[in-house]
Amino acid sequence: MTPPPTDRPSVRLAVNGEDVERTVEARRSLADFLREDLGLTGTHVGCEHGACGACTVLVDGRSARSCLLFAAQLEGARVTTIEGLTPPDGPSALQRAFRACHALQCGFCTPGMIVAATELLAADPAPTREEIREALAGNLCMCTGYTTIVSAVELAAAERSPAPGPAAAEGVT
Ligand code: FES
Ligand code: FES
Repeated sequence: MTPPPTDRPSVRLAVNGEDVERTVEARRSLADFLREDLGLTGTHVGCEHGACGACTVLVDGRSARSCLLFAAQLEGARVTTIEGLTPPDGPSALQRAFRACHALQCGFCTPGMIVAATELLAADPAPTREEIREALAGNLCMCTGYTTIVSAVELAAAERSPAPGPAAAEGVT
């Protein structure tokens, strides 16, 4: 006999590399699931309708608005939050670049910005400033004016892919 429909389905997914299995309300957003059920409060919630980008996480390597997804939809998915992008031994290159470039003030937008920038740099290790602006266009910041954020992503890209020095240019290894 088919079991009766439930409004608390069970979902299994990987969050920051760890397997998670929970029953969830059918309409529980991924953002609320991460923050309230798993305690991963680095994912911020602003507009709750897909406009601000504060809730951005990676789902199977692609950036996604966690306020627009239901946790119950994500059976088998790999979700990465800002916590998963922070190495255990300290800030990542992107996080250090944000600090070095003063790319945050209140910090509300920062986790989403870093998640979106992570996706960009995975696809394009050396983006132009225009490409960085375009990639981050869906992430709103009320404080910085964006220039320092673009500089931070540019700096992180440069640190990860340093320009060839004289030895490399001459083919010396
Ligand atoms: S809280 Fe999800 S886009 Fe604003
Ligand atoms: S640093 Fe305040 S919203 Fe971006």
